[in-house]
Amino acid sequence: MMENPSYLSIRGLGKTFTAASGHRHVAVGDVDLSIGEHEFVSIIGRSGCGKSTILRMVAGLEPCEQGCIELDGRQVQGPAAERGLVFQEYALFPWRTVSQNIGFGLEIRNLPKVEIDSTVSKFVKLIGLNGFEKSLPWELSGGMRQRVAIATVLANNPKMLLMDEPFGALDAQTRLTMQIELSRIWMETRKSVLFITHSVEEAVYLSQRVVVMKARPGAIQEIVDIDLPFPRDIASRGFNDMRTKLLSMLLDPVTGTH
Ligand SMILES: Nc1ncnc2c1ncn2[C@@H]1O[C@H](COP(=O)(O)OP(=O)(O)OP(=O)(O)O)[C@@H](O)[C@H]1O
Ligand SMILES: [Mg+2]
Repeated sequence: MMENPSYLSIRGLGKTFTAASGHRHVAVGDVDLSIGEHEFVSIIGRSGCGKSTILRMVAGLEPCEQGCIELDGRQVQGPAAERGLVFQEYALFPWRTVSQNIGFGLEIRNLPKVEIDSTVSKFVKLIGLNGFEKSLPWELSGGMRQRVAIATVLANNPKMLLMDEPFGALDAQTRLTMQIELSRIWMETRKSVLFITHSVEEAVYLSQRVVVMKARPGAIQEIVDIDLPFPRDIASRGFNDMRTKLLSMLLDPVTGTH
């Protein structure tokens, strides 16, 4: 099902930040990564290893200092709707209803109202929020708001979803529900996803490949194939083996702790 294995192509990516003290800090050094069309890839690694910096460059929010990023054969230059972003914070308009949030991108493209309405109802259904179309974001739970955020970017028919710890602010139970939902949505839409998480379980549950990063400079330590059938069975031996393998890769070589 993977037509183009280099749908997203990241080559020789590097980024150095200069701190207020004048100290230069290599946040990302020489990262190469390709993500296939329809593929779900996660990045894990300790805090500060450069995960968000990479995602922000793919999003076009941060210029590439070294190297280049191409999506579907075109160089990434600045943010665009073809790369749909979902962060931990809910990026919804508080004064717009669920439907109006999901339809926003279509409205600004001046699409006909019938088309907007049918796209919105398709995505309301996909995220399981039928009956909440007229609710305002503050009337929803955190998990529901994050579903709306996902539908809002999917309604623009992006080439790719970029997700930076999207479930990081949710309680443990809601987070599990959202993992199940996202995996189901991905199986239905087969959008390419680049997903950042601190949770090894979440990465194993959702991904076809997991990129393990190391810090100073931020670089790829290893890329692990998660060759398990979808939907994933968290109680299976294979799942547990993968989790153990990834956890051991994240151990600090000096202290032996995470
Ligand atoms: N705008 C910035 N200015 C200066 N330094 C920055 C900036 N953004 C990030 N950094 C530095 O770059 C490094 C990588 O940061 P980044 O946010 O990419 O890490 P991360 O892997 O996403 O961490 P976390 O898991 O905590 O979210 C860190 O050392 C951070 O201090
Ligand atoms: Mg981050």
